[in-house]
Amino acid sequence: MLPPIQYRVFESPDSACVQVAAEIAQLIRERATLGRSAVLGLATGKTTRPLYQELVYLHREEGLSFQNVVTFNLDEYLGLRDTDPRSMRFFMQREFFDHVDIPAANIHFLSGVADACVAARCAGYEKEIVQAGGIDYQILGIGRNGHIGFNEPGTPISSRTRKVDLHEMTRTDAISAFGEIENVPTQAVTMGCGTILKARKIALLAWGSKKNRIVRRAVEGPVSPKTCASYLQTHPAARIYLDVPASLILDQKSHGR
Ligand code: GLP
Repeated sequence: MLPPIQYRVFESPDSACVQVAAEIAQLIRERATLGRSAVLGLATGKTTRPLYQELVYLHREEGLSFQNVVTFNLDEYLGLRDTDPRSMRFFMQREFFDHVDIPAANIHFLSGVADACVAARCAGYEKEIVQAGGIDYQILGIGRNGHIGFNEPGTPISSRTRKVDLHEMTRTDAISAFGEIENVPTQAVTMGCGTILKARKIALLAWGSKKNRIVRRAVEGPVSPKTCASYLQTHPAARIYLDVPASLILDQKSHGR
């Protein structure tokens, strides 16, 4: 039997993000001392906003440099340009990259261009991750259907970076950014579950009561393609960071640490 996945419950998203940002800062500083880079896997979404705010704070107020940081973002909508305010690339510039000293050449992103070269670019992304030495610390959010990145229900554990069709629930949850369901892209590119699970360390963040059912399935349910986040149970260094509402229906006695 798998050991229970570790999770920690914080009084607020901000306090959880102070902890995750401190772990990231420690990794960056340790690597800088050795003259090496720290490779981060990054996610977008409302969940990650307080994390980027805290990292920007550490840069501004505590001199944390991102010069030795290399990043790979998880996913992008297909059919959106980098400069589209609804793209994940735009989100990352606005929330994080524009406010820290990360060299532009160290930022890796899946392109949202929908042409015949999507599969080749996805394969190239996998190679770039390997060439960078692999991802040291992967940050994840979770969709209400249990997706990580855009790995929708039914995705195998060994899946790699590729083009995917978006689930109806995912598209519905994106309406706030796109105005109407008709405007929400139907496809995306995403790192695969197998790609994500190769990271040396993983943090999945979830806040609010809207996420508590899916968090329970991910943490306490069976490891199953029905809930891709449950694959994290197979990872030796994956941890879940929750606020109180997101943790309320977990069986805290058996799994809390
Ligand atoms: C999005 C992204 C995920 C993200 C998740 C949660 O669609 N593909 O990478 O983690 O859904 O989003 P939010 O944080 O806005 O709830």
